[in-house]
Amino acid sequence: PLVSMTEMLNKAKEEKYAVGQFNINNLEYTQAILQAAEEEKSPVILGVSEGAARYMGGFKFVVKMVECLMEEYGTTVPVAIHLDHGSSFEACAKAIHAGFTSVMIDASHDPFEQNVETTAKVVELAHFHGVSVEAELGTVGGQEDDVSGSIIYADSQECAELVERTGIDCLAPALGSVHGPYKGEPNLGFKEMEEIGKLTGMPLVLHGGTGIPTEDIQRAISLGTAKINVNTENQISSAKTVREVLAENPDLYDPRKYLGPARDTIKETVIGKMREFGSAGKA
Ligand code: G3H
Ligand code: ZN
Repeated sequence: PLVSMTEMLNKAKEEKYAVGQFNINNLEYTQAILQAAEEEKSPVILGVSEGAARYMGGFKFVVKMVECLMEEYGTTVPVAIHLDHGSSFEACAKAIHAGFTSVMIDASHDPFEQNVETTAKVVELAHFHGVSVEAELGTVGGQEDDVSGSIIYADSQECAELVERTGIDCLAPALGSVHGPYKGEPNLGFKEMEEIGKLTGMPLVLHGGTGIPTEDIQRAISLGTAKINVNTENQISSAKTVREVLAENPDLYDPRKYLGPARDTIKETVIGKMREFGSAGKA
């Protein structure tokens, strides 16, 4: 069923695993991720950036597409449709009214007071509709769609205050992670992660899941990380498949013959992540 993230993340935090947020770009991504979740009996979060929603035909289209596929597949595992890095109250409101079950308000680039104010406003609307809310503090490095920046670690006291004053359902404290591939080894602030987890009691979210070594993933989960976002890894693995198929078959032009294999690759990548994050078998 389509659900908010609240219950799945609280359960994940309690039982010490993480639910993957996998970003979708088109039909094939959505099919692959929903199929992987059902096969692995894993809860799953479909991440939709504003740019990806625009590309696919808008928030409403995304909701209808996901609903139709879930009906077609007879999906039994919990699925959330989540706005990734919502840039404003208005964007979140649009997603909520289109039927998204979860939103992230990313006002992390604003001054703290403004972040609190915008986030609280989103929470009020979202909770009225039974929709969950993720907020961010600090800055994730690298670039994804319109979101870019250099790494700034979230401040623990600000995290505690933001949670207290807004009533969000999960928190993404930027602690050294990066959108896109890492240049060298990631240097995650585990000390801060532990402190923020304890201070807030919130399920924590790790952005920039691509390229984080398994031992860091496990450590993050042990410190209260209950949601891990993965986007680039599916893009890289599926693009590689398309390149290989087209290179091996220079006369091929039927999109199903290269997008189909790309879809298989995404599914395989997602299944690997669900097992790594420990969410497989938890639905
Ligand atoms: O919001 C999405 C994620 O943080 C994805 O990060 O592309 O580095 O896996 P990634
Ligand atoms: Zn992110």
